[in-house]
This record gives sequence, C-alpha cells and structure tokens, in this order.
Amino acid sequence: MRNILLNPGPVTLSDGVRGALTRADLCHREDEFATLQSGLREKLLRVYDLPADEWAAILLTGSGTAAVEAMLASCVPQDGRLLIIENGVYGERMQRIAEAYAMAHQSVRCAWIEAIELTEIRALLAGGNFSHVAVVHHETTTGRLNNLRALGEICAMTNTRMLVDAVSSFGAESIDFSQWPIDACAATANKCLHGVPGTAFVVARRNVFDQPHEKPRSVYLNLAEYLAKQDAGGTPFTQSVQTFYALDEALNEFFAAGGVIARQRLFQGRMAQIRTALERLGVVGLLPVQDCSCVLQAFELPEGMAYDNLHDQMKRRGFIIYAGQGSLAVSAFRISAMGDINTGDMNRLLDALQEILA
Ligand SMILES: Cc1ncc(COP(=O)(O)O)c(C=O)c1O
Repeated sequence: MRNILLNPGPVTLSDGVRGALTRADLCHREDEFATLQSGLREKLLRVYDLPADEWAAILLTGSGTAAVEAMLASCVPQDGRLLIIENGVYGERMQRIAEAYAMAHQSVRCAWIEAIELTEIRALLAGGNFSHVAVVHHETTTGRLNNLRALGEICAMTNTRMLVDAVSSFGAESIDFSQWPIDACAATANKCLHGVPGTAFVVARRNVFDQPHEKPRSVYLNLAEYLAKQDAGGTPFTQSVQTFYALDEALNEFFAAGGVIARQRLFQGRMAQIRTALERLGVVGLLPVQDCSCVLQAFELPEGMAYDNLHDQMKRRGFIIYAGQGSLAVSAFRISAMGDINTGDMNRLLDALQEILA
C-alpha cells in the first residue's frame, strides 16, 4: 500500500523525482552543476513566464522559511519600512523575522479565520510611511488564499512594493507579476512543484539588488550575493545538489503536465472531491469555499472526534492528514491536494473518510 502525504509538504513523490535523487555524484564547483543550476533558474522563471532581463530566480539550500527570511532580510533596504500583514502562523513568522533583524516594521493583525483588513491597510499605506508590504499569498494555517489582487491595487496606488510569501502557492495559484507591484516572492521545491525538501528559492526583480553600497543584514541569507554568484555560474555556499536534481525532474514533469494552469485544475479537482465527500459526511469547511486556495483546505473536526484519533485511523489506511495550528489544533484538521496522487489513491482516500466518519 502506498503512503500518501496529505500534509502541506513534503509531498508524495513521483518515481521520476525519487529516482533523480540518485543521479551521478556532482561537485557544486563543476561546470555540470553550473548547467544544472542555470537550467533550474530558467525553468523557475518559466513557471510564470517571467523575462530573465527583469527577474531572477535565486536558489537556496534550506526550507521555505529560509527563502522568506532571505527575501525580507535582503529586499527591504536599511532605510525601508515594512508593513506586515498577518492572518495566520506564516504572517506571524514574518513579523518574528522582522523583529529578529530589528527592521523598521509594523503589523496589521487580522483574526486567523478572517480575510485581510484592506481598509486599515489602505489607510496605513496612504500615510506614506511604508516602502514595502509583506504578505502571505496562501495562508496555510487556514487554507485561505489572501486577496493579493485587491492588495496589489492598493500597493500600486500608494507606491509600495510587495514581498510575497508564496511558499504554498507558487506553481499552483495565479500570481500576477505584471500587475501587482511585486519585488520578490519566496517559495520552495517541496510543495506545489512536487520536488523534495531542501531547495527553496526567491523570484525577485533584478533591480532590487542595484544598490551595491547597501549593507547586508545577513551573511548566509544575502540574496544580492547569491544572485551575483549564480549569474556567474557559481554559488556562495555548498548547495544541496541532489535536491536540485529532484527539482529539475519535478519541473520537467510540471511542464509536461501543462504548467500552472494544469496544476491548479488538478488540485481544484482533488479538493472538490474531498470537500464534497466530507460535506456529505457532515464535516464542514473552516472557510467558505470561494476563500480557499486550491492547495489545501481546513475542516472542522466532527463533534466528539479528537484529531489524534482521526489522524491515526487515516494513517493506518495509508494517508497522512495534518492538524490545525495554534488555537485551531483542537477544532480543525487540514488536507492538502498536492503530490503524485493517482485516481486509485483518491478513491481509497474517499473510502477511508467514509469508513471513519460515517
Ligand atoms: C505559507 C508558508 N510559508 C512558510 C512556510 C514555511 O516553510 P518551511 O516549513 O518549509 O520552512 C510554510 C510551510 O508550510 C508555509 O505554508
């Protein structure tokens, strides 16, 4: 029986991606690595058809948080001021990062199950005191897809640049790089792109790093240095070569399957099947379906059913679901639609939910 991961990454791997991990040993200072790295950077831009003279994909070894931290530490200049939008764990994490780097910042805190508060944000940005907004695209805490279109309009009107945590949306949700005033997006290999954990990346506007005299906040997470070295075919530090191989294969499979639009439809189809089955069993979604990402949704735990019980029964049947976070730990569970899941797996999943929850 296959073990299927329905947690929000890492995902169930395809055989091709798993096999790529065992490609030939390779030193990160050899030409073959430079070719692998530049190919990956080109493919990551191709996910959203971004021109390479304006945009760069910068590869890091680390998890999604490394990319988010590198983005905030490297893209907000020393004299910049950041407005952080929080409606879940990952917005709150960006606040902790800004705090740790002693960056000038302020937060707009919204309830976890609420949409972001655009009126307050508009008023704050209109005051003209902020250079950048940091926002999570898909807030995985609740499965909410934050309204970046509306936020983008406000940022464009107020001349504010956007820094987006797209860790759990890159590759499956639309990101309008031409209309929203985005300076950078942080993401990872092991979620919507179906790679393995270990590679993260930031897609950034090249002109963000046109400040040669800017003092870096970090040694390891300095994107300006990664960009300069990667453009020259190198890397400042040892990269996780095997996870690069895996991402390369995952991206080949991603494009062969039809790219972002196809992946979005695939996840939407799976989530619709899961939500319909759960609703028939009386299990309701935490958020209205129109507010949810295609990647993951949160559901209310049925009366009298503890999360551990549901988790363990699902695990015995080969499915790993995910707990709610923070105060939602006792009342909600989450299911993601990512990964190499086939029709047989989906049918088994729906049967398992029926058996346990009926
Ligand atoms: C929106 C978002 N941001 C950041 C992260 C952190 O990623 P990681 O756990 O890979 O560091 C996650 C992880 O699920 C996430 O969903």
